[in-house]
This record gives sequence, C-alpha cells and structure tokens, in this order.
Amino acid sequence: MLVKGGTRVHSEAVAVSSRAVVASAYGGPEVLRVVDVDTSEPGPGNVLIDVRAAAVNAIDWKRYSGAFTTDPNQLPMRLGYEVSGVVSAVGPSVRWLSPGDEVIAWRVDGGYADRIVASEQVTVRRPSNLDWAPASGLLLTGATAVHTLSATGTHDGDVVLVHGGSGGVGRMVVQLAVLRGAQVVATASPNHHDDLRTLGAIPVAYGEGLLDRLRDVVRTTGPISVAIDTVGTDEALDTSVAVVEDRQRIATIAGFRRAGELGIRALGGGPGADPGTLVREAARAQLAELASDGTLDVRVAQTYALEDAAKAHADGLTGHVHGKLVLLP
Ligand SMILES: NC(=O)c1ccc[n+]([C@@H]2O[C@H](COP(=O)([O-])OP(=O)(O)OC[C@H]3O[C@@H](n4cnc5c(N)ncnc54)[C@H](OP(=O)(O)O)[C@@H]3O)[C@@H](O)[C@H]2O)c1
Repeated sequence: MLVKGGTRVHSEAVAVSSRAVVASAYGGPEVLRVVDVDTSEPGPGNVLIDVRAAAVNAIDWKRYSGAFTTDPNQLPMRLGYEVSGVVSAVGPSVRWLSPGDEVIAWRVDGGYADRIVASEQVTVRRPSNLDWAPASGLLLTGATAVHTLSATGTHDGDVVLVHGGSGGVGRMVVQLAVLRGAQVVATASPNHHDDLRTLGAIPVAYGEGLLDRLRDVVRTTGPISVAIDTVGTDEALDTSVAVVEDRQRIATIAGFRRAGELGIRALGGGPGADPGTLVREAARAQLAELASDGTLDVRVAQTYALEDAAKAHADGLTGHVHGKLVLLP
C-alpha cells in the first residue's frame, strides 16, 4: 500500500484504529454508540479515507428502526453512506487517487467514522470551494434528484411540482430542474419560502387547501407537467395525480406503498422501485462540477460531533430539517 508521504509498505495487513458510530440494537436514536473499530488497509482498487465530514440521511435511521429488518446478525450496524475526506493510503491497482487527495465519496459503508476504506470508484474530487460539511452532503441527495428528473424526462418548458422542496433532496430537485429550464413550484413550510424563491422556485404551503393553491399558481405558470414527491404523504401523491396528466411523469422517492396502485414511478431502494443505479452513479461528476462554481448550493442545517449522532438523528426525525445534518469526526 502507498501511504501519505509516499512510503511503500509491503508488510502484513495493517489494521488502523478508528472510532465509528454503530446501531447497537434496533430502535430509535438512543441505540447509537461510538465504538472503536479496526479499519483494514485498503485492498485492490480501494483507498483509506480520513473522514472530515459524514452526512446524515434519513435512510441511516430507517435502517436500524426495524422497518426493513430486525435480523440480529446485522448488529452492531455501521451507518453512513457519504463522506468527504482526505485519502491517506491507496491499495494496489488504484488508478487516479494518491495520498493527500481531497475527495467526496458515496456510496460508502460505515461513513460515520474517523476513517473508512472505500472503492476508488465511488469517489470524486472535492469541489475546491465547497467546505467539508456541505461537500459530504452533495452526492446522495444530488444523485437522487438527478434520477427523479431523468426518470420523468424533465426538460426546458416543463412546469415541475416538487413536494418537500426545502428538504435535502427537494432543494436539489428544485435547483436541477431550474437548470434544465423548467418552472418550479415547490411545497414547504412558510418559513422556508424565501429560500425556495432564492433558488428560483414558486413556494406553496403544503397542508389543507394545497390543491386550490396549486390551481391559483397554474394561472400564471400554465399546467403542471411533472410532479416529484420527496415526502410520501397521501396529500403529495393525491395532488400530484390531480394536477399532472401523464402519470409516467410523476415520481416518488418516499411514497412506495401507493405508487403501484396510482401507476406512478417509484424510484430508489423501496420495494418494486427503480434503483436507477447507472443514472445515479453517473451523476457524481456532474454534481461535483455544478457545486464547484456555486451553481448548486448545498445547505447545511447543523453540524454535530460523532458522539452526538443520536442528537442528529433525533433532529432529523422531526421531518422539518432545512438542509443537511452533518457529523464532524
Ligand atoms: N428513494 C430514494 O432514492 C431516496 C433517496 C433519498 C431520500 N429518500 C427519502 O426521501 C425523503 C426525504 O429525504 P430528505 O433527505 O430530503 O429529507 P429532509 O432533508 O429531512 O427533508 C424533509 C422535508 O420534508 C418536508 N415536509 C415535512 N412534512 C411535509 C409535508 N407534510 N408535506 C410536504 N413537505 C413536508 C420538510 O419541509 P418543511 O421543513 O419546510 O416543513 C423537510 O424540508 C425521506 O423519506 C428519505 O428517506 C429516498
């Protein structure tokens, strides 16, 4: 392996110690613990990353909630799918990374840690103007957003309704849809409307009367042609099918239960959903480029020490976070 400083090491596998957050049981955030783990040296095609920031995503707390599995063999469960950090060692056959390179990486295993081993293939260079915390939160939400726009064929001239426009994924969908030349109408709590206006969207409050408010908006925008649901509520799904004519241009990343019955697109890891693996993986480089000159904004709502992962998850579970929650090891 090649380690920082350029020294080649041909010894037996060297384990590096790291702190990592694990779910010690199935349940709520109270099951999270910080433990010491051994991180093996990077094998072929892999790199060792000193993690500077690890973004929190809803999937992280869903995984240990018991909603998907309660298999005791998966405990303790490492968490965290995306990080930013510095490459500190590279394994054999690594092609373009060297020790000292600053990267962002998604999809990784166990990103809530001081150090992780990840495939070179899941990394891109950290956009130079993006601090560690926002850089860590760019790829999962961004790639999901790219997939929603690609699956619905969103293009110049579309009028796109985004449910949950102020959330991590929603802000990405809004910005990328505007970049495609679409008019965007986005739902959010009223205290997040100014942010949505800044991003180029027309904000609308969700809740009772949403359909009437949307009917008012289309008087100026023209008919809504695409709907992207990042929330999964009945209200989001029912208003989407009420206002968009072509159900193949309605996508949900959270309302999997009713997607089949409604004949709309379910995207991501849910049952029967389209994972969009190739589209999402191909989006990494494009997202990094758009973030590098500030075209794409990643808002960080709050940062936490690794030891405060449970607090970060409790905050995320409120469902009203405005931007990314990020752990700083
Ligand atoms: N399928 C996939 O590939 C995929 C990928 C990523 C995420 N997801 C899922 O997508 C969902 C959103 O993820 P995220 O990271 O964007 O979450 P997030 O950052 O926590 O954002 C959630 C947003 O939902 C909004 N919201 C809450 N209640 C609402 C309601 N009744 N109607 C409309 N908006 C409402 C909130 O807006 P206000 O604060 O303004 O109220 C908040 O900004 C999660 O369930 C996550 O698991 C799926």
